[in-house]
Amino acid sequence: MPSYAIIGGSRGIGLEFVRQLALSGDNTVFVTVRNKQKCTHLQDTINKLPHKNVHVLEADVVDKQAIKNAAAEVSRITGGSLDVLIYNAARLEFENILRGLLDYDSEEQLDEEFVQSLKVNVLGPIHTVNTFLPLLRKGAVKKIIIIGSEGGERDFVRRVHLSETAAYGITKAAENMVATKYAAELESEGFTVVSVSPGLVDVSSTYSELEPPPEGSVPKFKVIAKKFYDAFPKTRSLTPREAVERLLVYIESIGPADSGSFKPSLEFDTSTQ
Ligand SMILES: NC(=O)c1ccc[n+]([C@@H]2O[C@H](COP(=O)([O-])OP(=O)(O)OC[C@H]3O[C@@H](n4cnc5c(N)ncnc54)[C@H](OP(=O)(O)O)[C@@H]3O)[C@@H](O)[C@H]2O)c1
Repeated sequence: MPSYAIIGGSRGIGLEFVRQLALSGDNTVFVTVRNKQKCTHLQDTINKLPHKNVHVLEADVVDKQAIKNAAAEVSRITGGSLDVLIYNAARLEFENILRGLLDYDSEEQLDEEFVQSLKVNVLGPIHTVNTFLPLLRKGAVKKIIIIGSEGGERDFVRRVHLSETAAYGITKAAENMVATKYAAELESEGFTVVSVSPGLVDVSSTYSELEPPPEGSVPKFKVIAKKFYDAFPKTRSLTPREAVERLLVYIESIGPADSGSFKPSLEFDTSTQ
């Protein structure tokens, strides 16, 4: 009965992890969301699943007590263990995601966005891993997966000339290092800790109803997409289903020898371009 916890699975790639993992009745799937009442995409998905093996827990990753409560609930249900932790949450809200370092209206606005991004993309995985570690230590699989991004990789950002997404990219770079630090920390205990990119994934079918794309953001996204395609002409955006199918094959395949690595998406793997 492998158990999985998806941190941040109300929509997008996290939601698709929940769907695909829950298709196997052998799996027990925990998913954390910020607001249970407002997770319509997740609820619709759960209603269509063949098994009752998904547990929805409420936790904003910036709320350390909420993460502790979620871990306590996982422990209560599994008898104290967890096999695989997938940290998927990221600060990706439309208002700020596209801004480069020169695009903020004020220093205060820049500081605020960086602090919030750091809390979700860097301190979030740290507090989550620290809190769930006693459960993971008692698990049979001992895998910690951080969903990373090429947006935090220097060679990719240089090749794409990606000045946009500054707070996101800089904190995702730090998040990759979080995985590597835990890999070193937990090496002697047989853990596998990796950061892996899903690639360019079109998650628009499950956009938050609370935060629709603001006026003008879609053309800006198109500018960034053009930079991707210019730098990586063979790239195409994946559906969440395709991306998560690949990610689950990868997660299944890895072991302690892979620990500490960042796995780029095949779409952006320069060795294949
Ligand atoms: N899509 C891509 O092309 C792409 C490319 C590279 C990497 N990634 C990575 O893939 C992961 C998922 O991205 P996505 O495209 O699926 O994004 P998405 O559709 O915007 O989903 C983001 C998820 O993070 C959750 N979240 C945000 N802030 C949170 C917080 N403070 N506490 C708890 N949960 C929070 C959101 O929950 P709410 O519903 O409550 O907002 C939502 O479930 C991210 O780590 C991202 O960096 C995505």
